[in-house]
Amino acid sequence: MNTYHPQRPTRRDFLKTGAKTTVAALGFPTIIRSSALGADGATAPSNRITMGVAGWGMQAPGNTGQFLNNPSVQVIAACNVDQKHMEAALGSINGKYGNKDCRAYKDYREMMAQKDIDSVMLAVPDNWHGLMSVEAANNKKDIYGEKPLARTIREQQAIVKAAHANNIIWQTGSWQRSTGNFLKAAEMVRSGLIGKVTAVEVGLPAGHNDFAGTKDKMQATPPPPELDYEMWIGPAQMQPYIAGRLHMNWRWDYNIGGGQLLDWIGHHCDIAHWGMDWDNSGPTDITPIQVDMPPRTDVWNTATKYRAELTYPGGVKMTIAGGHGDIRGGTKWIGENGWIWVDRGGFDGSNPDWKKFSRLPETDRKVPLYYSGDHFKNFIDCVKSREPTITPVATAHHSALPGHLALISFMVNRPLKWDAAKEEIIGDAEATKLMGREFRGPWKLA
Ligand SMILES: NC(=O)c1ccc[n+]([C@@H]2O[C@H](COP(=O)([O-])OP(=O)(O)OC[C@H]3O[C@@H](n4cnc5c(N)ncnc54)[C@H](O)[C@@H]3O)[C@@H](O)[C@H]2O)c1
Repeated sequence: MNTYHPQRPTRRDFLKTGAKTTVAALGFPTIIRSSALGADGATAPSNRITMGVAGWGMQAPGNTGQFLNNPSVQVIAACNVDQKHMEAALGSINGKYGNKDCRAYKDYREMMAQKDIDSVMLAVPDNWHGLMSVEAANNKKDIYGEKPLARTIREQQAIVKAAHANNIIWQTGSWQRSTGNFLKAAEMVRSGLIGKVTAVEVGLPAGHNDFAGTKDKMQATPPPPELDYEMWIGPAQMQPYIAGRLHMNWRWDYNIGGGQLLDWIGHHCDIAHWGMDWDNSGPTDITPIQVDMPPRTDVWNTATKYRAELTYPGGVKMTIAGGHGDIRGGTKWIGENGWIWVDRGGFDGSNPDWKKFSRLPETDRKVPLYYSGDHFKNFIDCVKSREPTITPVATAHHSALPGHLALISFMVNRPLKWDAAKEEIIGDAEATKLMGREFRGPWKLA
């Protein structure tokens, strides 16, 4: 599925916008090594997939490192609203290539408008996923975007629409699908080893983690001079600058992120859906069972403990929980003939023999799933072949929807009914309103 087919239209055919401009042709100072010219058999720059990267916090450096190590890719631009992060990004990218070519953009719209950028890697806080992804898609960039797809259902729907309308290639940072352990578990469930599945458990983290070491900085102060705080807040509601809810720890503030529930739903629910063939499906009923929600006025105000039960077509129940001891972290499928549990580095099942193999033997593999041994290379291969990646945009959307719906059910404190085909909450105006959030002007989601 992800092999390169030379006869297929290439990304450049796809764009039909005329010849691409190389960095050198734009007049930027360039020191080109012979390997970059293709003298040693490496891909010449004009044939590389050019990339711009947005963000440089917890996730972007790792993602970018993978692309910098791919000889088919040339990272030529970086975007950030924090000058210190920008300098770190430029240092790493230019350091890798041994030049000073990487261009710097503070406003993502300027980076997206550059005609010589083929693709973008977006690892910015959730409040920006919607606007930035739509802008990139409308500029025909192929996108490696992060999970969860966006901060709200409405923003997710806008991203899916723009990605499909522009026929771009999308890969989501739900990289678990590209690792053997998760592939093995999902293929076993799909191939019927545990029989008809009756229940699915998605165990996520609870509480808050002080990723940035800023938990003691909970007082409002002026923003530091290197940060354009206005552009960091963007479409979210303006609120005083508090270091404790900025870089990395924005996850614990509902103005910007969605707590542990939405931080992790794009990983373990993504795997649950893969095993159930639910990539284009969704629940019909969402019942809030328990939630510990700090007061909205707290700096860290996202749920610290939670549990919801979702019913899927056919009556299968899925429990999503954080901080409930009976729901083990990771993904568990329970069937009529056994069970399988999987997590990063962990696998278990009702039959001890299942631990012995690294992938379900071919003879038992009744439903072979998409194989991608390398999530980042899979994106680049698909940019070339125009084939879907292992986690395309609609998959990311469906994998995160149960988390959004559970959160809304906690907020209104009652069960919801969901029309998965129309993608609307049925008969609940207050809950429907929470499918989106008001954008701070002048930002608008097209
Ligand atoms: N796939 C995974 O395993 C994984 C792991 C961690 C984070 N993530 C995801 O990556 C994304 C980023 O998370 P993080 O933890 O790296 O956040 P972070 O706060 O550490 O970094 C965000 C970066 O984006 C920059 N930024 C903010 N607004 C911007 C704007 N308007 N334009 C350009 N840059 C802007 C910040 O200055 C910072 O450099 C999130 O969606 C998160 O869920 C994924």
